[in-house]
Amino acid sequence: MIKIENVSLDIYGSSRRILSDINWHIERGESWILFGRNGSGKTKLLEIITGYLFPTEGDVIRFGHGHIGSDIRETRKRIGYVSSALREKFNRDETLLDTVLSGLYASIGLYRKPSVDETEKAHRLLVKTNLAGRENDIIGHLSEGEKQKVLMLRALINDPDILILDEPSTGLDIVAREDFLDSITGLMQGRDHSLIYVTHHVEEIIPVFSRIFVIDDGKCFFNGTVDGAIENKIFSSVFQRDIEVFRRGERLYSSLG
Ligand SMILES: Nc1ncnc2c1ncn2[C@@H]1O[C@H](COP(=O)(O)OP(=O)(O)OP(=O)(O)O)[C@@H](O)[C@H]1O
Ligand SMILES: [Mg+2]
Repeated sequence: MIKIENVSLDIYGSSRRILSDINWHIERGESWILFGRNGSGKTKLLEIITGYLFPTEGDVIRFGHGHIGSDIRETRKRIGYVSSALREKFNRDETLLDTVLSGLYASIGLYRKPSVDETEKAHRLLVKTNLAGRENDIIGHLSEGEKQKVLMLRALINDPDILILDEPSTGLDIVAREDFLDSITGLMQGRDHSLIYVTHHVEEIIPVFSRIFVIDDGKCFFNGTVDGAIENKIFSSVFQRDIEVFRRGERLYSSLG
């Protein structure tokens, strides 16, 4: 569905190569963790996937089309992208329901009244994230965790083929983070879209994620299963510290040795 082929990125004025020869294939229905330290190139890679940035070398094939011969605006409608920077822009005097529905306008660029079906769909999404009954609350008054859930639903209202969440847990306390992860599990059930979840916390690798792409200093460090990453002590290697990763029930935890 998304094929990143030999992608490299140089930024004008910076002598350092930001991304080097990245190859990554994301198939329909797959849920991926994109893992890497601060500054490793995760957000730049996402900007290339979403078409906001062109690679210096290589190509990205999205839904069967390379960058030549495809309309990037049409392609973007099929990609739901939520970054933590987006959250800061939503301190608005707008209801929670209208914020979710505004995702429809972002994709088609038109202001129109949502249909009954679309409003019902927004309600159904809200129910799955424990926000039912809060439809008329003001988005600017919500907690960070609630706001993050609303922005995820805003991206999902268009039924994207892939949902990309760039460090969605930033600024969330442990309870809000767990609540957000539960929402992801609920929303992924019965859907066939793909998911990329960016994090540098092992604890956020919940069972819905079976695959992990680890990037370090702009290069692919590991591409495979979560179990494979644990077996190969990838987390210790990437942080160059002794990090023990262990399972308790279905969840993963880490401790620094
Ligand atoms: N316009 C720019 N000019 C020069 N360097 C840049 C520019 N934009 C990003 N970089 C560098 O590219 C590298 C990768 O940045 P990126 O934002 O992708 O990191 P990240 O993995 O998302 O980090 P974080 O976990 O902190 O969000 C960083 O070292 C950053 O300083
Ligand atoms: Mg980033």
